[in-house]
Parts: sequence; structure tokens; C-alpha cells
Amino acid sequence: MNAMPAYIGFTDIAGLKWAGGNLGERKKRHMPYCSSLIMLVNPAINNFIAVLDGSYITNARTGAQTAVALKYLYADGSNERKSIRLGLYGAGMQGHMQTLAISKRFEIMELRVYDIDKKALAKFKEDMSGVVSGRIILCDSPQEAAQGDAIICVTQANTQFLKDEWVSPGTIVFPMGSYQEADDALLLNAGEIVVDHIDQTLHRGALSRLVERGLLNEKGITCTIGDVVAGKVTLIRNPDKKRFVSKLVLVQWILPAQTRFTRQR
Ligand SMILES: NC(=O)c1ccc[n+]([C@@H]2O[C@H](COP(=O)([O-])OP(=O)(O)OC[C@H]3O[C@@H](n4cnc5c(N)ncnc54)[C@H](O)[C@@H]3O)[C@@H](O)[C@H]2O)c1
Repeated sequence: MNAMPAYIGFTDIAGLKWAGGNLGERKKRHMPYCSSLIMLVNPAINNFIAVLDGSYITNARTGAQTAVALKYLYADGSNERKSIRLGLYGAGMQGHMQTLAISKRFEIMELRVYDIDKKALAKFKEDMSGVVSGRIILCDSPQEAAQGDAIICVTQANTQFLKDEWVSPGTIVFPMGSYQEADDALLLNAGEIVVDHIDQTLHRGALSRLVERGLLNEKGITCTIGDVVAGKVTLIRNPDKKRFVSKLVLVQWILPAQTRFTRQR
């Protein structure tokens, strides 16, 4: 379990989210991988003002992160409903949430999906056939899913299964799982590395093992997605290079939690 305190000045809200992912006994009991609880605090009087389930907020927020990043990195910030082809690893909760969020902004014309669990694949196709405009292709091997304008990894795998040589130049890669899902070469050869929070990226998630081994440091990070959204950095797409987006910011839960609490009052 991770404890994640947060404070957002412009809305003057504070709080703590507990969240974690576990297989083991949870999987045996058919419980979802992630569980979470949120406590909100009014910083003016130091009072706890709400306790909320954090799972839905965490899951929906994580799907929305990719959709927002694609708006800026694939559609150059435009609100036009562009068509997109996706490669997806992991047909579980995040596989669903990523697909749902991206479908709100893009017309998904092809989605290739690979999962080690065939039942999860079949359920994904059944659940997402009304969400994906084009074909959903269930892949028999991991390499078959490594095609599309963007590739998203949302597995609990602790192995570097996505190989550099499978991914075409111009592709945007989102390894969103908690461990390193892409091989070192894919990460190190990326034309750009865009993250949502530099310090956190250096010690958690897809890039942290490269940092630990001295293969990457802050200088290797191109910019944050916030810099792109705020217009502080303009990225010129190089069709010969892959883009890599690492996303795992732990404080973004607090604004949707505050909104949900305010609406329910
Ligand atoms: N970045 C974030 O803020 C954030 C938020 C939520 C979840 N996550 C991460 O996303 C990942 C998925 O979470 P979830 O809730 O969707 O879990 P889940 O159990 O619902 O789904 C994960 C799926 O990945 C599949 N899988 C495992 N190993 C695989 C492999 N090598 N290749 C292909 N498929 C494989 C499993 O069979 C399962 O269907 C976890 O690592 C979780 O920690 C990250």
C-alpha cells in the first residue's frame, strides 16, 4: 500500500490517499487488483471532511491521463475527433478505463489487444465492442499487439515484454504499469521522454530502474506534459523517432475527489 498526501493551493484542499495493487490472496478471492481509500481535509480548520472510495477515481484518472496526453502529443492540442489505432497490453480494469477515456476524444479505428489471460481478452472484446468504432483484434502473441499510433501497457508484469524492435518510429508509447514493461532499448532510444512529474518519475514506475543503474537522469527527460499543455514547450514530432510518455503522478487524485465530494454534499 502507498500513502499519498497531497495539497492543492488554488482550491485549498488537502488529503491522503491510500492505494495499492496486489495479486496473491486478492486474486484468489476474485477481487480487483487495485484498492484505495481517500480522506479529504479542510486545511483551514484541520478537520477531516470526507472519506471516499478511491478505486474508481484512481482508475478513471489513470485512463484520462493517457487521453489528455494523446490530445497534446498525437492531435497537437486540437479538439478535432481524430481517428487513432491502438496497441494495448492488459485487458483488465485499466485496459477498459484507458479505452473508454480515449474513446471520448478519439475515434478508435483499430485496437489490438494482448493479455496472458484469454478469459480477460474475451471479456474485453464483449465489453468494449460498443466503445471501439473499428475492429478489436485479440492477439495470440505480444508482438502482434505492438502496432498503432499509440501503444499502452497496463499490466502488472514485472518483465520487460515490449521490445524496441517491435515498435515502429512515430509511435507514442505509454508504459503505465507499476513496473518496467518496455525494454531498456525502447526507453533509451526514444526521441522524447515526456513525464507528468520529473522527481517522481526518477524514483517510481517505468524509468526508475534505468535511473538506479545510472543509465538515465533528469537531463534525459524532455519535458512534462504540463509544460506542453501550458504552451511552455512545443514538441516537433519526428516521424523517425518513438515517443515515450511515463505517467504515474500520485497527487492527481485530489481534485476529482474534491469535485465528487462537493457534488454529493
Ligand atoms: N499509473 C497509475 O497511476 C496506475 C493506476 C492504476 C493502475 N496502475 C497499474 O496498471 C496495471 C494494471 O492494473 P489493473 O487494475 O488494470 O489490473 P488488472 O488485474 O485489472 O489487469 C491487468 C491485466 O494484465 C494482464 N497481464 C499480466 N501480465 C501480462 C503480460 N505480461 N502481458 C499481457 N498481459 C498481462 C493480466 O492478465 C490482467 O488481465 C498495474 O501495474 C497497476 O499498478 C497504474
